[in-house]
Amino acid sequence: MKFLMVCLGNICRSPLAEGILQHKARAAGLDWTVESAGTNGYHTGEAPHRLSQKVAKINGIDICNQRARNFTAADFDRYDKIYALAEDVLHEIRRIAGNKYDPSKVTLLMNEAFPGKNLDVPDPWYGEEPGYHDVFQQISEACDAIIVKYGVKMPAGS
Ligand code: 4NP
Repeated sequence: MKFLMVCLGNICRSPLAEGILQHKARAAGLDWTVESAGTNGYHTGEAPHRLSQKVAKINGIDICNQRARNFTAADFDRYDKIYALAEDVLHEIRRIAGNKYDPSKVTLLMNEAFPGKNLDVPDPWYGEEPGYHDVFQQISEACDAIIVKYGVKMPAGS
């Protein structure tokens, strides 16, 4: 399966989401593609925020080689599932996608852990390091739920 994690800048939250889901999928033996993008384009080409890199590294995940890119309408053709890290991001995804928008492919990330609650992963951009640790834990919980939901392997011979 191919997953895309989307936030505003693609430097704080979605790089963590990419790294965390990739890490969990690999550990579970799943051959998944996980990538990320941002809707505002302010940081295109940049590496993840130093605190996202730091918190990922503390948790055994290296995200330093990621580079920010813009979300585009064509991403609806490239991915099976697109996760918005927050409600404002979801609105931007809908606006940018235009007639490519496919609601069956898009979900708020935290709805995987807490269905129907429509929770945002808060933007840590204006805050300090503890905010990045909180964001890591929230995303990690959602990614655990994604692994359970989509990672089921059929028993051999079935
Ligand atoms: P992110 O955080 O969406 O989690 O990458 C942000 C980073 C930068 C900006 C906004 C959010 N910005 O406006 O520059």
